[in-house]
Amino acid sequence: MEKLTVDLGARSYPILIGDGLLGDVAAQVAPLLRRPRTMIVTDAHVAPLYLPRIEASLEAAGIKSSSLILDPGEGSKSWGGLAHVTEWLISEGVERSDHVLALGGGVIGDLVGFACHIVKRGCAFIQLPTTLLAQVDSSVGGKTAINVAAGKNLIGAFHQPALVLIDPETLGTLPPRELAAGYAEVVKYGLIDDAAFFAWCEENGAALLAGDSAARHRAIAHSVAAKARIVAADERETQDVRALLNLGHSFGHALEAETGYSDKLLHGEAVAAGMVLAHYFSAAQGLCSEADAQRVRDHLAAVGLPHSLKSARITASGEALVAHMAHDKKVRGGKLPLILTHGIGQSFVTEDYGLGAVAAFLDTPPA
Ligand code: NAD
Ligand code: GLY
Repeated sequence: MEKLTVDLGARSYPILIGDGLLGDVAAQVAPLLRRPRTMIVTDAHVAPLYLPRIEASLEAAGIKSSSLILDPGEGSKSWGGLAHVTEWLISEGVERSDHVLALGGGVIGDLVGFACHIVKRGCAFIQLPTTLLAQVDSSVGGKTAINVAAGKNLIGAFHQPALVLIDPETLGTLPPRELAAGYAEVVKYGLIDDAAFFAWCEENGAALLAGDSAARHRAIAHSVAAKARIVAADERETQDVRALLNLGHSFGHALEAETGYSDKLLHGEAVAAGMVLAHYFSAAQGLCSEADAQRVRDHLAAVGLPHSLKSARITASGEALVAHMAHDKKVRGGKLPLILTHGIGQSFVTEDYGLGAVAAFLDTPPA
């Protein structure tokens, strides 16, 4: 078992990574509990696969648990989903010193984290992420949110978990398309500031996606260490450090909005195409070499991820796409900070490029 720490002073917490950890969840959770009682929130895909082993582990340790099983998918990250979770927690007698278990992907983690932030003015929660995206990104860092009609993740809070338990064996049941989408977020850490890790991805990405357990462990541990470092440096995204985690997201956000946040384009798939576009846009501005942009595109294409507007099946005009970007919650003072790059592993935040330039680029992208 590997142990990392998110270093946030009094709110620091451990991240444990190990095959089979979910089957022994009580050993990690019990020391945190003030009373032998916990509540588990999960979804209907994950529950039959992993809930019984968690309940068995807790029961064997004398910890009483109850569970709430939600509909899978983004639809649960809503006002209705939030009301459902918070009212269920209250009906279960949740106490402020309790630790609620969030078992599932980013949808469950984001929703349960936010519910725990507001229920009885706040209780603790533990992330048990079961998708690659959640294991390398969303379970760490304390961003919690729901979606509303005006957009994704617009209502939320920073609420750090008390513990993150990552069991990479759960990836064995994840649909391949979801796995590949999560892999885009792994590649992102290389592209942000770690060219050697991007080279590792080029060498090992295909094996990771095919099931190589050592490659999965390495990718998760490396990604989570990078995320922990970034979150510790800029927890609330006020210093242009955590913002680097949005590499590919402004372009990707436009593609997701254009496809109605539907399963036509998963979040990680939009991020993959967005990262390629960010590199080609940087090359078009003379910031990075075209060869680097091509390298990014070639790797993402090689693992079957969308790597261009065409492969993401986007036909909208540049103007229509930047109209989505203008509604991004990262807009400040009317300007959208973009994450651009001087080359692989050399990304930076800038407000120097207007949306007009982005629209013109998107009308004739080289990728
Ligand atoms: P998800 O939670 O919807 O999970 C994807 C699908 O896989 C679902 O159908 C789920 O039921 C299923 N599933 C989960 N684990 C499984 C397993 N082990 N075996 C089989 N099926 C399994 O999606 P996601 O990609 O994990 O998360 C996306 C969400 O994460 C979005 O809402 C996004 O906004 C959010 N997100 C948050 C952050 C953050 O920092 N908080 C970062 C990135 C993304
Ligand atoms: N996934 C972006 C962040 O955690 O900041």
